[in-house]
Amino acid sequence: MALIPFDDRDGLIWLNGEMVDWRDAKTHTLSHGLHYASLVFEGERAYGGTIFAGAEHTKRLRSSCQMLDFDIPISNEEVDEAKIALLAANKITDGYVRAFCWRGSEMMAISAQQTKTHVAIAAWEWPSYFDPETKMRGITLDIAKWKRPSPESAPVHAKAAGLYTICTLSKHEAEKKGFQDALMLDYRGYIAEATGANVFFIDAESTLHTPIPDCFLNGITRQTVIRLAQSLQMKVVERHLQPEDMATMKECFLTGTAAEVTPVARIGNYTFTPSDACRQLVTAYDDLVNGRINL
Ligand SMILES: Cc1ncc(COP(=O)(O)O)c(C=O)c1O
Repeated sequence: MALIPFDDRDGLIWLNGEMVDWRDAKTHTLSHGLHYASLVFEGERAYGGTIFAGAEHTKRLRSSCQMLDFDIPISNEEVDEAKIALLAANKITDGYVRAFCWRGSEMMAISAQQTKTHVAIAAWEWPSYFDPETKMRGITLDIAKWKRPSPESAPVHAKAAGLYTICTLSKHEAEKKGFQDALMLDYRGYIAEATGANVFFIDAESTLHTPIPDCFLNGITRQTVIRLAQSLQMKVVERHLQPEDMATMKECFLTGTAAEVTPVARIGNYTFTPSDACRQLVTAYDDLVNGRINL
């Protein structure tokens, strides 16, 4: 399939307060964000014209900025309004929304105290094809050699570009070996998350186990699925998990804005059989984001 480059598409992008033609949404090559990874972003999804958890994503965008010692120059309400206006201007009802902030070109050095913060929002069509049977086959994950860093080594709770370097490396390595994604352990050897999604396991008693997000992103989908599972009377335990704990788990799934609830069939040599619990949560999440149920 031919790739359509992201800099050569039709539509509008919201850039620093204005709707600009997609191909004109440019930043200079000498931008701090590009050279020093002073860029944070959000990935959001609209279902039937409504962004799921839009305000929470905006809140996280601001806190990611603040963790990198800059801030969004406009209010959260203005960001939320811009996202909605952008979807309408591009006539997108089911799509992906990418909001991002980065330091500009005023300074090109480690110190970046005087840089201006740029804000942009792009959105593109991304319908969610709900096919539970295909989903239920489950995806396969390699176990990455890269480890999620300690909170003393990086701003681990920011959705910051720099933290994705090891995710891209891990994902490439996994894809070369024929896996679809990679599970990352943390600096202590505990199970952390996938390269762009959180992970859950289900044991023989149908209890959900998920790592404590103490050195990685506490995903908005993760938090939603925990509440969803509890509303379905499922027990949820947040704890440190060792790779060997996977041997006792029956089911496994990933959660994320892009992944939604994605069953997993294999991680390294550990296998899982996506069954009732996965199916229930896949369906409940789809019902929730499409407004068929409330939480
Ligand atoms: C590294 C990483 N972890 C977890 C998640 C899941 O976060 P959310 O559910 O907020 O999309 C994402 C997706 O944004 C991610 O990139």
